[in-house]
Amino acid sequence: MSEVKLVGVVGAGQMGRGIAQVAAASGFKVILFDINEDGLNFAFEFINKQLDKGVSRGKLNQSAADATMAAISKATVMEDLKNCDIVIESATENKQIKFKIFKQLDEIIKVDAILASNTSSISITEIAAVTNRPDRVAGMHFMNPVPVMKLVETITGLETSDETIDAVDALSEKMGKTVVRADDIPGFAVNRILVPMINEAFYALFEGVSDAKGIDNAMKLGCNQPMGPLELGDFIGLDTCLAIMEVLYEGLGDTKYRPCPLLKKYVSAGRLGVKVKKGVYEY
Ligand code: CAA
Repeated sequence: MSEVKLVGVVGAGQMGRGIAQVAAASGFKVILFDINEDGLNFAFEFINKQLDKGVSRGKLNQSAADATMAAISKATVMEDLKNCDIVIESATENKQIKFKIFKQLDEIIKVDAILASNTSSISITEIAAVTNRPDRVAGMHFMNPVPVMKLVETITGLETSDETIDAVDALSEKMGKTVVRADDIPGFAVNRILVPMINEAFYALFEGVSDAKGIDNAMKLGCNQPMGPLELGDFIGLDTCLAIMEVLYEGLGDTKYRPCPLLKKYVSAGRLGVKVKKGVYEY
């Protein structure tokens, strides 16, 4: 396995653009790939604004911001990722989409390169099984907002080699993150605990325990959480929260993980959270 120099990121959404930014700021060359050119351009503008904000607040100097921007290139054709030493997939949280991407990547990129997924709950073992390199497939689960949150969960699939896990851990650490290793069990460590809490907040709202502000204030002021659980659900994306609850419910087979009907209703109505400017709250 060669030393990681060139990092590919698949998906220019809120997670992918954050991963690209942090990797570039940590000295790696990055190719950010998305089939949607408008989405890709938006991600570039977003990263640029974040860096400008950092410069105006005195957190980094202009030359570091320029170097970060210059280290990221755009791609709308997957073949452009062929020379990457590692590709971190950060596409929509949908099994079939991820399987398709991993099959394509497996054919395109170097045989000794690593394929990582930023999936928040889909089985790494299942994703690895669609490739011819299951030993070189691992989970790299970043937290949102990626430039701010210190954790990356490293997820070991059934066939993932120790060498791959060590390489993935080393990359996260070079990106300034702290690693927690988690086994490939639905939800891994963070979402096994976090998303049922958000789902429970929806049940509390559904049953009229308090209104949305009341539930969020209870957890912010009563438990020192930086965001209340409903606000955090909007921030993560209610569709993503629902997808994770469904994986927990199916994967663990326990009714305590059943998604709240109110969460389902918000997603059906297209109230997906901050990204569409309306979820539990309006933005
Ligand atoms: N991108 C980059 N930086 C951001 C940012 C973003 N989207 N949002 C905020 N920041 C930065 C700000 O620039 C600021 O940086 P400085 O201190 O260097 O100036 C810092 O974060 C604090 O931001 P603010 O002062 O604007 O706001 P805040 O104090 O309210 O903090 C927050 C914002 C960091 C998002 C905080 O509310 C928080 O920690 N919320 C909880 C986030 C969380 O739990 N994330 C994990 C979600 S779970 C997950 O991601 C996994 C999954 O699979 C679902």
